[in-house]
Amino acid sequence: MLSAISDAVSVIKKSKSMIALTGAGISVESGIPDFRSAGGLWDKYDPAIYASIHSFRNMPERVWEMIFELIDITERAKPNSAHLALANLEEMGLLKAVITQNIDNLHQEAGSKNVIEYHGNAKHLVCLTCGAQYSPLDFDLEHKEIPHCEACGKVLKPSVVFFGEMIPPDALYNSQRYAEEADVVLVVGTSAVVYPAASIPGVVKSHGGIVIEFNLERTELTGSITDIFIQGKAGQTLPQVVNLLKE
Ligand code: APR
Repeated sequence: MLSAISDAVSVIKKSKSMIALTGAGISVESGIPDFRSAGGLWDKYDPAIYASIHSFRNMPERVWEMIFELIDITERAKPNSAHLALANLEEMGLLKAVITQNIDNLHQEAGSKNVIEYHGNAKHLVCLTCGAQYSPLDFDLEHKEIPHCEACGKVLKPSVVFFGEMIPPDALYNSQRYAEEADVVLVVGTSAVVYPAASIPGVVKSHGGIVIEFNLERTELTGSITDIFIQGKAGQTLPQVVNLLKE
């Protein structure tokens, strides 16, 4: 693993347009369970029922059961050393953008400035019927008040991307543009099974870019697209890379 880390350091030193793609795994050490590891969120909540736009339209109150739990967990979470390491790389001028699948806002809280939220965020509540937008602060979500639209009375939805919804157009366009220009992509804490986010490392690879993967275990990318695989907790491996870059 040490040779993988030193290989990564020499590649990153030479990079001119490096980006990162992150998934739920980067926030596990902040106390937020990921989705597909054992004991992950999808073990408890079937995504076909709780994370599809179809089920939200049919039974919004049931979906809000999971949303309340997610809000409770993410409210308490703080950025961990992996988030801080990526913010450091941006500060050092080595990281041009973080494309995240996460909605926990931890990259921004860690100090990353250029963060593309591929699956939206939980900063707004939207009415699927009349399009009205609200802040979560307009409601008592802490005490599990299901928010309703003042204009038409419908149950509001957080502005996160559910299965069956489009990726926000600006996130899709900007991510593609960065991936097409990237010479290195750090892929951190994602199982790389959900598209189109999982296609980003392949876009970088397709024009000769280098894929460096940080994960606890091998993924769909590891045997095929990944050039350097750094196995371990991102909260430990990413800071090791950054410390060596600072030497
Ligand atoms: N350090 C590094 N990697 C980790 C760590 C850690 N401490 N903990 C877990 N991982 C890895 C797991 O091994 C797994 O490969 O992070 C990955 C998490 O994968 P998923 O749970 O599938 O999460 P993610 O890839 O972000 O899912 C993508 O699917 O359900 C949808 O919208 C949801 O954005 C999510 C998308």
